[in-house]
Amino acid sequence: MTSAFPVDGLTLVQHPLVQHRLTRLRTRDTPPERFRAELRAVSLLLGAAALADLPLEDRTIATPVASMESAVLACAPPVVVPVLRAGLAMADGVLDLLPEASLAHLGLYRDPETLEAVEYYFKAPADLAERPVLLVDPMLATGHSAIAALDRLKAAGARDLRFLCLLAARPGAVAVRAAHPDVRIWTAALDPALDAKGYIVPGLGDAGDRAFGTDHD
Ligand code: URA
Repeated sequence: MTSAFPVDGLTLVQHPLVQHRLTRLRTRDTPPERFRAELRAVSLLLGAAALADLPLEDRTIATPVASMESAVLACAPPVVVPVLRAGLAMADGVLDLLPEASLAHLGLYRDPETLEAVEYYFKAPADLAERPVLLVDPMLATGHSAIAALDRLKAAGARDLRFLCLLAARPGAVAVRAAHPDVRIWTAALDPALDAKGYIVPGLGDAGDRAFGTDHD
């Protein structure tokens, strides 16, 4: 049921382990502890795809046998920015991949009437302009939160911005790319629609509730 038509600037990560784990995440009966573990593992793989173009430079090192020129990252460590709270379950996976990354936090909630994003917390390193910045939020639904988050990060200085989500709804992905054409998106699937409450269809339900074992309100 995922959409076959691409969205410009959006990469569908079709690695078999991403797709296999996504099925477990979509499945209604997957319990929170398994949901968190699967999301963490998928996030590592999505992060690897999103950071595949990081620059390298050679450094002289000594192996136990000989000295050699070997590649190291030639950029400042990236900054991972989870949108609270569901993004936290993705941040752990990206940090598994890149323990030297900094972790910023952005608190947004969705106004239930307007579905607009309202900011309640923001803390990030001062040198965002110098570093690749990875926004992480599992569900790209209407795009309101992602657009607000990207606005906020740009206002704070971020220039190299990338957005990782587990699932994107086509209307939200199109809206984010229209508002921020310089920001590429990596996701495991592109679902076709949203329901009247702004949930992705077929989706996986409320990612925060499913990850943290809270009741849906
Ligand atoms: N947020 C979620 O957690 N799930 C959706 O389907 C949409 C937004």
